[in-house]
Amino acid sequence: MKAYIWTLPTRIFHWLLALYILIAFLSSEEENLLTIHAAVGYGIGVLVLFRLIWGFWGPRYSRFRDWPLSIKEAIDYIFHITRPKKLYPGHNPAAALVMMGIIVVTFFSVLTGLLAYGIQEGRGILAFLHSPLFKEMEIFEEVHEFFTTLLLLLIGAHLAGVALDYLLHKDQKTYLSIFTGYKNIDAPSAALTPIQKVIATILLTLALLTPIAALNSSLTGSIYAPIEYEEEHSAFFEECGSCHTLYPPFLLPARSWQKMMANLEDHFGDDASLDEPTRKSIENFLTQRSAEFSTKEAAVYILSSLKSATPLAITETPYWKAKHAQIDDTIFTSKKVRSKANCKACHTHIEKGLIEDDQITLPKI
Ligand code: HEC
Ligand code: HEC
Repeated sequence: MKAYIWTLPTRIFHWLLALYILIAFLSSEEENLLTIHAAVGYGIGVLVLFRLIWGFWGPRYSRFRDWPLSIKEAIDYIFHITRPKKLYPGHNPAAALVMMGIIVVTFFSVLTGLLAYGIQEGRGILAFLHSPLFKEMEIFEEVHEFFTTLLLLLIGAHLAGVALDYLLHKDQKTYLSIFTGYKNIDAPSAALTPIQKVIATILLTLALLTPIAALNSSLTGSIYAPIEYEEEHSAFFEECGSCHTLYPPFLLPARSWQKMMANLEDHFGDDASLDEPTRKSIENFLTQRSAEFSTKEAAVYILSSLKSATPLAITETPYWKAKHAQIDDTIFTSKKVRSKANCKACHTHIEKGLIEDDQITLPKI
């Protein structure tokens, strides 16, 4: 006897979710993969939406009301795992709890990911939440990490359950059912209504296309447009970008710019002096756009890392040091980079004020 338990949409959902979560985890550690991470996150969001709809209006066994969701029953099931008292054609009570946990925790992972992306990075559909009100922005990333760690644990529990089931209930071939849909049991089969087929086709196609569509759209876009410093202040653009990278003003506090602009004759050993009107004009420009007036992640963190210090170099700020601590000195002294101060060797668009995570490229040496 064979019964059809997991219909095609349920199986596609399962494997697409597994794939997307894998990509999301693989792309979570590298700052320059953040756009891919977010794009896949949107795909996971659509999958969760599909699974919730499927849970209420889907076919037999996939519907939540067919799940034996009870902690008492789950404990009882685990105690009699070698000889379950009842036959569960769909999820057994322990699996049902884990699956519900995965759906709920995935939902919160996506939600908190969107919040961190919007509030911290000024990107994605919640980018409008990015504001100076949230000075302690890291908290959103931490909450996101809490949920994704929980998700990993639940996935571990799921895999352990599959392994246990494989060893203890060999004859039912449950592990094969997520490929074929069938289990070796005596139970009624699941079937799809035409409406269910339409809903599944639309939503699963959407889930498949969303990450691709998200890559180059406002879904991963930034509220920060490139800044044309040449147009905003041509003297600043020309004078301060002639010897080195044009450092965006928001990378240092006003007091640092004032101190630097008061002594251009001895500027890191060079004479960068200017006539007084130009000097004054550049100083005003720098102080009006200093870190205090920016909501950019880098500005906020540089400022808070400084406390009351007044460094002249961005590379002297604790935040800069911490962010670049992992980079080998031989890279900084290499031919392609030459100096830590040569930001644009790695931050391609820094001269337009963009230091977003995914615009960082470490030169190969
Ligand atoms: C005559 C060349 C010259 C000019 C013009 C010049 N600088 Fe510099 N600047 C230097 C040198 C040299 C360094 C040290 C770079 C290094 O450490 O590799 C430096 C370093 C800096 C740094 C610190 C970089 C770091 O390590 O974080 C800042 C900020 C800076 N300059 C701002 C300015 C500004 C603002 C202007 C325009 C008013 C300006 N510079 C004009 C030569 C120049
Ligand atoms: C040799 C390449 C290299 C140079 C030169 C370099 N950076 Fe970076 N920077 C990186 C890398 C790589 C990261 C990402 C580190 C991480 O977060 O893991 C980074 C991260 C940052 C961040 C944090 C970005 C974020 O959103 O997390 C800021 C801000 C930054 N750099 C500013 C600067 C400035 C300003 C300069 C020049 C004074 C500079 N960097 C020079 C490679 C470089």
